Amino acid sequence: MTIEKKIGPMDLSTFKSKGQKFSMLSVYDYPTAKLASEAGIETLLVGDSLAMTVLGHPDTISVTFEEMLHHVKAVSRGAGNSMVVADMPFLSYQTSTRDAVKNAGKFLKEGRADAVKIECGRNSFKTVRAIYDAGIPIMAHIGLTPQSSGQLGGMRVQGKSINNALRMIDDAKLFEEAGAFSILMECVPSDIAKLVSQEVSVPTISYGAGPHCDCQGLVSSDVLGLFQQFLPKFSRRYTDLSKQIRQAFKSYHEDVVSEQFPAEENCYPIPQQTLDDILSALEKRKI
Ligand code: KIV
Repeated sequence: MTIEKKIGPMDLSTFKSKGQKFSMLSVYDYPTAKLASEAGIETLLVGDSLAMTVLGHPDTISVTFEEMLHHVKAVSRGAGNSMVVADMPFLSYQTSTRDAVKNAGKFLKEGRADAVKIECGRNSFKTVRAIYDAGIPIMAHIGLTPQSSGQLGGMRVQGKSINNALRMIDDAKLFEEAGAFSILMECVPSDIAKLVSQEVSVPTISYGAGPHCDCQGLVSSDVLGLFQQFLPKFSRRYTDLSKQIRQAFKSYHEDVVSEQFPAEENCYPIPQQTLDDILSALEKRKI
């Protein structure tokens, strides 16, 4: 199911207006991006979850802008017509609107991303607006925002109290007004995400925000069973690649130890006459 033409922010709005659901996948490298695009996944997020799923950090805080850029470049090369959204890592946009615009611009200019995403808090209006004003498509991430989970009391579902839910709805409207082309919600009760989706005119994306959003997003390492530490409640494992990869590595190791690898077909032959000439040349050297 190939994607016929390059997907952009306007296409996501068209999907929403037609009531056509679409998907997002967090991916980190060229081959996975290529496979996801070939599978018809419309939007690829180079998420800062890279820190945990690929780089082995305990959370998303430690991944650097340069590390993210490296992976954005790889994903962009494999993405085909899928839209690439680059996730801005911790401290690449919180320090000033100038830093935010400069780094967001680098993701487009050097990383060839189509859009950027930032985790938004109360004071993010100016940042979203500055990135938008620079002509950069910007996605606002609300609900559970892991980069500031310390302030949220940990990695917990957001929007469960009246104040928190009302604030989330207001924030979503505010970020739409600031120029966000879509609102991503992470770990939000389905009914609250439904209200947000009704209150804004831009498409909404769910990572654990239920079925009423316009788009569903998952992390590729979860879908493939590659990240083994934990599986969030909202996620779904579609295959267990860890098991298959471990088995393949084990078979390879056993073949080496038992001298079953390499076999004849894995070796480069030379003609017998050439080998004889080399051997006699070696002999002569010894004289
Ligand atoms: O990094 C990521 O993959 C994300 C999603 C969980 C929204 O930010």
